[in-house]
Amino acid sequence: MTPVRGKFITLEGVDGAGKSTHLDWIAERLRTRGRDLLVTREPGGTPLGESLRKLLLSEPMHIETETLLMFAARREHLSRVIRPALDQGCWVLSDRFTDATYAYQGGGRGLPFDRIAVLERWVHGDLQPDLTLYFDLSVDAARKRLSTSQSHPDRFEQEGADFFERVRSAYRARAAAEPERIAVIDADRSLDDVKKELEVIISSIC
Ligand code: TYD
Repeated sequence: MTPVRGKFITLEGVDGAGKSTHLDWIAERLRTRGRDLLVTREPGGTPLGESLRKLLLSEPMHIETETLLMFAARREHLSRVIRPALDQGCWVLSDRFTDATYAYQGGGRGLPFDRIAVLERWVHGDLQPDLTLYFDLSVDAARKRLSTSQSHPDRFEQEGADFFERVRSAYRARAAAEPERIAVIDADRSLDDVKKELEVIISSIC
């Protein structure tokens, strides 16, 4: 018997919005509810993807190179990890996916969205997340959290407030355009309050 396809859940937000803080807790809740779960991240998730991640987070490069490498890592991730897991009935929780490319390379760096859409269709046209949890926080608050937690900021974290304002606007525009897929989590609250909202969303999908 073919297993029921697993669900694909992604986490998004500007650096410092708190998605990584909640990732382990979300994974634990899904496992407690009996889901076979694979936790992964982008850029990364495969040996080649993790090598590309190191370059992407440290090496200066042309914006189109940056975008192509994000999608190269994603292509590998999809064919070796994400699709096989979903096909076997496993759920997949990924720390970032293509919404991040629209937000960072599109919004932040100004690459036209239609260029990203071409790569998106090419690399995973028929596969989209079933649910995206977008952690929304003001850029000021996110930067404060980052400066207390990061001793060595990466190439993206070193960007200025204007860059992150554009990233946030792009995320919010995507969430407004796709409200059935993207749940906006107000991250400017206590961890317990955020968890309560996450619990409601998680119980609605499993
Ligand atoms: P991040 O999840 O913030 O890693 P960490 O919590 O370990 O710092 O991801 C690394 C960076 O990659 C982040 O600043 C956003 C960036 N990124 C893009 O610019 N485009 C993309 O498509 C993806 C997946 C990530």
